[in-house]
Amino acid sequence: MPSTVLVGAQWGDEGKGKITDLISADFDYVVRFQGGNNAGHTVIHGDTKLALRLIPSGVMYEHITPVIGNGVVVDPRVLSSEVAMLEEGGISCDKLIISCDAHLIMPYHIALDGAAETRLGRHEIGTTKNGIGPAYQDKAGRTGIRIQDLLDERIFREKLETALDYKNQVLDKIYGLPTFTVDQIMEEYLPFAEIIRPRMAETAQVLNAALRDGKNILFEGAQGTLLDIDHGTYPFVTSSSCCAGGAPTGSGVGPKAIDRVLGIVKAYITRVGSGPFPTELKDETGELLGKVGGEFGVVTGRKRRCGWFDAVIARYAADVNSLTDIALTKLDVLSSLDTIKVCVAYEADGTTYDYFPMQHSVIYPKNVTPIYEELPGWKGCDITGCRTFEELPENAQRYVEYLEEKIGVRVSIIAVGPDRNQTIFRGW
Ligand code: GDP
Ligand code: IMO
Ligand code: MG
Repeated sequence: MPSTVLVGAQWGDEGKGKITDLISADFDYVVRFQGGNNAGHTVIHGDTKLALRLIPSGVMYEHITPVIGNGVVVDPRVLSSEVAMLEEGGISCDKLIISCDAHLIMPYHIALDGAAETRLGRHEIGTTKNGIGPAYQDKAGRTGIRIQDLLDERIFREKLETALDYKNQVLDKIYGLPTFTVDQIMEEYLPFAEIIRPRMAETAQVLNAALRDGKNILFEGAQGTLLDIDHGTYPFVTSSSCCAGGAPTGSGVGPKAIDRVLGIVKAYITRVGSGPFPTELKDETGELLGKVGGEFGVVTGRKRRCGWFDAVIARYAADVNSLTDIALTKLDVLSSLDTIKVCVAYEADGTTYDYFPMQHSVIYPKNVTPIYEELPGWKGCDITGCRTFEELPENAQRYVEYLEEKIGVRVSIIAVGPDRNQTIFRGW
């Protein structure tokens, strides 16, 4: 299996965890390259159900080396609890390696994330409040503290003093919030060095050596294309590069190392947090999709907003990620509908857009009218037991082929349930 980048093609929660776990068997390394514990990736196999936030979803296989790459922001408290959770469940984390260059999420990042959201009021982004944005701000501002710094008490103290000198003033003078002391954070964070020390690695070097040895790497994206800091619905995005282009920078391999890009696409769309969502359904159909699809956040428990499939977005994702393949997930959730709508273009101010508009004001609810085509459903058929494309009801086959045609990318995997085996392979 050639090296592959797996990315979310919508607003996250497309089923990346399930598909990563499913295809991991064919890879030697599974690498997270961006984001942090804002991700919530669900992996279900038999009686085992995992909700992974930081550790790559390939961790269930003994032969795989899970890698947390340099582009990830790491909250050591979450890392520690996730390692403990997995090991309690009999899943070893001995092979896990973490980039020495990954940045740390500090307690003040979390405080500042919450404070910034409160300040925005009704304009809030709806972040996961895990300190992701403030940690990436410090990285870009060159004041971040990295994994390697945690292993040297003197350096850690020095960097922390410099950081707190400024952060405490912001917390106190701008937000009127409690401040942190150097000793308080040192006391909490230094013990995490023991989990990190044996696992810290020059991961770029490890991955490049692996490629030279003919090993195969799966890059597991978090969040999704429309949450990407550059290509998403800014400012309602996360602070990292969730698109396929983030895999090389977030892991230290060159772009030529990547052979395939698999976009994870839900058969409808969900979004958590604020921001425009042209095909959002604020009616009983939206409620039904949310109920049948179990659309509640893995990390925050928040109810996900639901809507019809948007082919404009899918085509955009195909472009900005160079998708070679699509995994279509949650097709089974549509089995409760009489007919299914797909948005094929937007209309705004008398203009029709069949591509994602450059100016995002076009896709705001007061401006945009989605143009839909309606397809017959397969109501009443339980497709969760189908294991070949031909076993699917004819209308379900037609829906998949219709999406393929609208997106221009082959659907190579179809998920018909949350379990690893509830899957149809179609030329993957
Ligand atoms: P991720 O963040 O992209 O990994 O997705 P999440 O794990 O946050 O959300 C996807 C949810 O859908 C999880 O609860 C999965 O167990 C579930 N899921 C994944 N694929 C399917 C599918 O094909 N059908 C159904 N019914 N559920 C699925
Ligand atoms: P996975 O990997 C869905 C959303 C938040 C918010 C915005 C910014 O499970 O698909 P942040 O905390 O990152 O600063 O929040 O991004 N968001 C996600 N939505 N799935 C995710 O991850 C998300 N990670 C962040 O809801 O709107
Ligand atoms: Mg998720």
